[in-house]
Amino acid sequence: MCGIVGYIGSKNSAEVIYNGLEKLEYRGYDSAGIAVISDNIIQTRRSVGKLKNLKSNLDLNPISGNIGIGHTRWATHGKPSEENAHPHTDCSGKIVVVHNGIIENYVSIKKQLISEGHKFKSETDTEVVAHLIEKYYKNDILKAVKSALKEVRGAYALAVICADEPDKVIVARYDAPLVIAKGKNENFIASDVSALLNYARDVIFLENGDICEIKKDTINIFNQDVEVKRETQKILWDAIQAEKCGYKHFMLKEIYEQAQTIQDTFRGRLSSEKNVITLDDINITEEFLKEISRIYIIACGTSYHAGLTAKFLFESLASIPTEVDIASEFRYRDYVIDSKSLVIFISQSGETADTLAALRIAKQKGSKTLAICNVVGSSISREADNILYTHCGPEIGVASTKAFTGQLTVLYLLALDFATKLNTISKEKLDLLVKELWDLPVKVTECLKQSGRIEKIAKEFHLKNQFIYLARNINYPIALEGALKLKEISYIYAEGYAAGEMKHGPIALIDETMPVMVIATKSKVYEKVLSNIEEAKARGAKIIAVINANDKEISKKADYQIVVPEVDEFFSPLINVIPLQFFAYYVATMRGCDVDQPRNLAKSVTVE
Ligand code: M6R
Repeated sequence: MCGIVGYIGSKNSAEVIYNGLEKLEYRGYDSAGIAVISDNIIQTRRSVGKLKNLKSNLDLNPISGNIGIGHTRWATHGKPSEENAHPHTDCSGKIVVVHNGIIENYVSIKKQLISEGHKFKSETDTEVVAHLIEKYYKNDILKAVKSALKEVRGAYALAVICADEPDKVIVARYDAPLVIAKGKNENFIASDVSALLNYARDVIFLENGDICEIKKDTINIFNQDVEVKRETQKILWDAIQAEKCGYKHFMLKEIYEQAQTIQDTFRGRLSSEKNVITLDDINITEEFLKEISRIYIIACGTSYHAGLTAKFLFESLASIPTEVDIASEFRYRDYVIDSKSLVIFISQSGETADTLAALRIAKQKGSKTLAICNVVGSSISREADNILYTHCGPEIGVASTKAFTGQLTVLYLLALDFATKLNTISKEKLDLLVKELWDLPVKVTECLKQSGRIEKIAKEFHLKNQFIYLARNINYPIALEGALKLKEISYIYAEGYAAGEMKHGPIALIDETMPVMVIATKSKVYEKVLSNIEEAKARGAKIIAVINANDKEISKKADYQIVVPEVDEFFSPLINVIPLQFFAYYVATMRGCDVDQPRNLAKSVTVE
């Protein structure tokens, strides 16, 4: 995920910024750059790849100055390259900008600016901000930033410097974090407090809509043109705690990030005004969809579970027959795919060997391919005909959490896009589902508040040696995913089953020693799930049920209840998986397991 560092004071800013960027390396990035002002001239150095490349560049072509901004880029718009690396400049080269987030309306702004004579040098959404500020600049950079941001829609943490005003850095925040650290006659900015801990610990976290003028000895914050005060906090975290934003593990941090990462993933692809889904990045036309024979979804592990969930979406919403396969099985199967098939590959890392090999096979067969990946520039994302990225930022915990809900978000968009193109969804249903999609971050936030309750339940069960997870229909893949999470990080033997399949065998396992986790939220199979709970209870099982508030029946039958907000059944997998992530996390930590790096597992499986 992108990182920002900035400095104003009397030190060599390039050095301070470089040190700060090093502290953000753990977030993942593909290029980096620094701009400083010296003698009213902006000097910029940018390099692709690791920070050491930027360091060599700086060693060969040193820059220095008491004010500067720097950035590590995790590509979203435009490939990783020197031209696309930040900082970006306006036409005059006097205004430079670094940015985290996504400018949703950059295409229309760019068109307008080009027609007004602006020359663009990169493929990024960020560069429009530099030119827009230039358009409004009349010897007052703060005013120009304020005017520019009135036209911008999306998420941003921005830092701007101007050669003609070398005594200030302007920063702004909307839906992307930005923090200012106060020193003595110097001030620092960063997207993440861990970048600044070696320099200062009195910090101000900016709020949405804040625009701020930072000089070496003053900080003035404005929100909607009114000057505001923000509280200063002392940060006592050590460097490792800071990387995890104070959370004990990356996995926990990543579970909590999900409201944001889901929003970041649909941002710019879902318009609020007309309920239109725009997947500009792919070329899957109405004509192709009308002739499509079948969708195949190929993936491994958690990504495979996202694929299993998507089968319900493509079949119910777009009426397209869909098959889902584990990549390592698909590779050696006699599959029937052709130019009328769409083969979707899902992979967080984009490097999973089996998924990559399956992609190559599908391409040889002449099928249209589409990848859903989190890592920009990864092998799968480069080789697929079409790519849709999840905008989750780097996932560091080996157990996948936020990448999974990001994948589901993309799959919801895709299924709704296909359904719209094929006219298989009514306008009313589409409006309803799009509205629910917009509300998902709020619902996820509500869900996250259940962590305390789940921790208590985990305490009751953490010494068990086996677990069964049950669900039906669109939530069946979530039973598989919940069981996988528990296995991976707590080493408890856990199995997910389709609840209706129980009586065909697995029920033999059930007695009073077997805990059963059941997904029992409102759905068309609610009554059926209730019967499956009765069957398990009759054999002595302890039942933990994930239910909705005001549940009348299952709440009475279950020994433990976890309440999640009610959503349309299509979105219930995305909500219901969150308590299961928490449950696995708490059980594993109570058993003293290394949740971020579980034994025998790798984050990216690049061997067959
Ligand atoms: O990077 P990918 O999504 O292709 O990885 C696939 C699996 O290896 C991955 O989901 C694995 O199952 C995770 N450890 C799940 O938590």
